Amino acid sequence: MAYDIALLRGDGIGPEIVDSAVAVLRAVGKKYGLDFNFTNYLIGGAAIDETGVPLPEETVKGCLGAQCVLLGAVGGPKWDGLPGDRRPEKALLGIRSALGLYTNLRPARLFPALSDECPLRRDIVDRGFDLMIVRELTGGIYFGDRGYRDGRYGREAFDTESYSAYEVERIARAAFSIAGGRRKKVTSVDKANVLETSRLWRATMEKVSEEYPDVELGHMFVDNAAMQLVRDPGQFDVIVTSNMFGDILSDEASQISGSIGLLPSASLGEGSRGMYEPIHGSAPDIAGQGIADPLAAILSAAMMLRISLGLEREADDIERAVDQAISDGFRTPDIARAGGESVTTREMTQAVIDRI
Ligand code: IPM
Ligand code: MG
Repeated sequence: MAYDIALLRGDGIGPEIVDSAVAVLRAVGKKYGLDFNFTNYLIGGAAIDETGVPLPEETVKGCLGAQCVLLGAVGGPKWDGLPGDRRPEKALLGIRSALGLYTNLRPARLFPALSDECPLRRDIVDRGFDLMIVRELTGGIYFGDRGYRDGRYGREAFDTESYSAYEVERIARAAFSIAGGRRKKVTSVDKANVLETSRLWRATMEKVSEEYPDVELGHMFVDNAAMQLVRDPGQFDVIVTSNMFGDILSDEASQISGSIGLLPSASLGEGSRGMYEPIHGSAPDIAGQGIADPLAAILSAAMMLRISLGLEREADDIERAVDQAISDGFRTPDIARAGGESVTTREMTQAVIDRI
């Protein structure tokens, strides 16, 4: 049986790192006798250049027909001047929404071999951390009404945040059930001292938590959460939060784990189909140089095997190979020690493959 995987390589370093993930998947396939069918579809700037739109109909169809989607990154300076609804990023929001992927899982843990790269104080690093950000992905200010209007000081721009109880309930359930398989602690992050959406969010979290009596629920304001993430990240197990707060906090969480080049993510809906992507962007400044860190994409592929395809052993294998490659000293420039040697994207990918 072959697994059907749609590839959205995208822009910037996207193609390079997706190729790395594919090479690793093929290596795992060879070891365990699994067959993968990979099909490329256009997205983002690459799609704009070729078809005039960031998310062609064919791409949506292809992803809907696949078992999972592996995405690189979208966007770059070349398309920055385009109006909002024609930008590459719009395609990312569009595909998340078209596939109904409202749950975004962004794990962040300290790689012991990289603890020197962690910008936190030694005693905080020594305590370690392993947290999961559960970000709501298809609602909130990312998808609310926006535009221009006449305001008190003339023409003004606006974006609106809205959440229904239904949207909060389903992301709450996702967070509680994930916490149930971990350390059974959910921290819901909001701004309920100011925002009405956050007050609904908080009340709904409370309500849903009654269905999960063995999971502890706490609340934290987002400003405090941003501070606590660098003060004492070990206190968190599962963080559940809105689309925009999750976007911001997950970049912060990635940096304390060593590099933004390391963090994978999974976007899920009701079925088993998921979209898997690094949390980093297209990094146009280093695109095409062959030095991008492929590990976030490779770890995203591992999440795909585990979550959407139920291939636990194969996913473990990839994650172990990544840990091993890092401990054996392989470093792309983003995680290289000051003055230390670094390897290319290809060499890092090969190092992982050699350890599978
Ligand atoms: C992310 C990215 C995207 C987001 C951008 C590129 C639209 O920052 O996946 O975190 O904000 O969701
Ligand atoms: Mg982001």
